[in-house]
Amino acid sequence: MNEYDSERVASLLASRGFVPASSEMDADVVFVNTCTVRAKPQHKAYSFVGRLKWLKRAKPHARVVVGGCLAQQEGKKLLERFDHVDLVLGTHGIPRLAGLLDEVALGQRLAFTEFTYEFGEHLPGPQGAANPVSRFLTIMQGCDNFCSYCVVPHVRGREISRPSGDVLAEARGLVAGGARELILLGQNVNSYGLKNGDITFPVLLGMISGIEGLLRIRFTTSHPKDLSGELMETMAESDKIARQIHLPVQSGSDNVLGMMNRGYTRDDYLRKIEMLRQKMPDIAITTDLIVGFPGETEEDFADTLSLVEEVNFLSGFSFKYSDRPFTAAARLKDKVPEKVKSRRLAELQELLKTRNTAHQVRLVGEAVEVLVTGESRLGKGQMSGRCEDFRVVNFPGEDHLAGQLVEVMVEEALPNCLRGRMIFRADSLEISS
Ligand code: 5AD
Ligand code: SF4
Repeated sequence: MNEYDSERVASLLASRGFVPASSEMDADVVFVNTCTVRAKPQHKAYSFVGRLKWLKRAKPHARVVVGGCLAQQEGKKLLERFDHVDLVLGTHGIPRLAGLLDEVALGQRLAFTEFTYEFGEHLPGPQGAANPVSRFLTIMQGCDNFCSYCVVPHVRGREISRPSGDVLAEARGLVAGGARELILLGQNVNSYGLKNGDITFPVLLGMISGIEGLLRIRFTTSHPKDLSGELMETMAESDKIARQIHLPVQSGSDNVLGMMNRGYTRDDYLRKIEMLRQKMPDIAITTDLIVGFPGETEEDFADTLSLVEEVNFLSGFSFKYSDRPFTAAARLKDKVPEKVKSRRLAELQELLKTRNTAHQVRLVGEAVEVLVTGESRLGKGQMSGRCEDFRVVNFPGEDHLAGQLVEVMVEEALPNCLRGRMIFRADSLEISS
């Protein structure tokens, strides 16, 4: 979501004649896009913004803008705390950025934190896109779920689905501009359209699938409670929707899930996993997990470990619980000591790593379909892409393969990527056998 917002900002600034600077020192406007979902990224954001003080000293005409969740959460307090910040732009402020920068140019210092629920006309162009082949596309804003640990509903506002016509127009524009994969974004994409939209998520997926030239569709994030049989059918029947799902479970304990206000039990979650695998036996399932939620006992934590074993996730992101402002969990007593949280996190991460390595190693000697996204970090003659389950695959190849589907024989499994050689290209020209 934040990356997509950064693309919108880059695109908007480009339309006003700005060009990307090579470093903060070269910039006339520095936009810091922030995340406060956990305490750690919030600390990082504060220290980065703090360090920009020297920039303002060296270059008084430069403008410093703080955007995203920290901006929304703290509002004008950021102007009081950092006198080198010119503009605080909340999560709904991007469509207003150009006008606000004009006011800032007149010497004002401003904080914009209204929830406007406007999407704005300005959508991301190729400028600032992290990757022109694989593009993000936001289909909804905000969240209504109020998981008790989560700041998102407080800093991004209520859930609003974008009209399907706007989403489709943007999708077509992105594909016309060279995108071959679209990653649909929302805090809870499974509930797209249920509250204020014209169509449901599976129907939207079907319409986007019809766009010629588009090779793959992914979406994130799915909430387990809203994952419907209809969506599973749509995925199973489509040859464009990747057989991959990120389905955050957060905990394997019913006690903790209840306190988290997640709206499902361990059994509900396991049943959905079973249904997914019945319809798509090869589906890659990843997750998010929190350890040390207030009141989490050793027994609760053991339930999380056993769930991870049982589901056999391809991979998972795991985090130590941290108090977030405005949230119900922040007010709970019985906080888990930091040392206990660290021990549980290490144990969980070890288990996830072992499982992930086993998945990786199993692929050696197999052919995988890769959407080539561009040159790999290794440089010329080495290309990179992602296979259906979202793993990075690197292989020797030429630039012109970017945007194509190729088949790669996996020869080596490294911790963060697979390496192999291309055996087949989607245009049916066989390279080797
Ligand atoms: N503490 C720790 N992890 C959190 N997450 C969200 N809020 C918190 C918090 N207060 C994690 C969840 C979520 C991911 C984006 O961040 O696992 O799925
Ligand atoms: Fe946060 Fe829960 Fe909404 Fe996800 S579904 S954004 S965890 S409140």
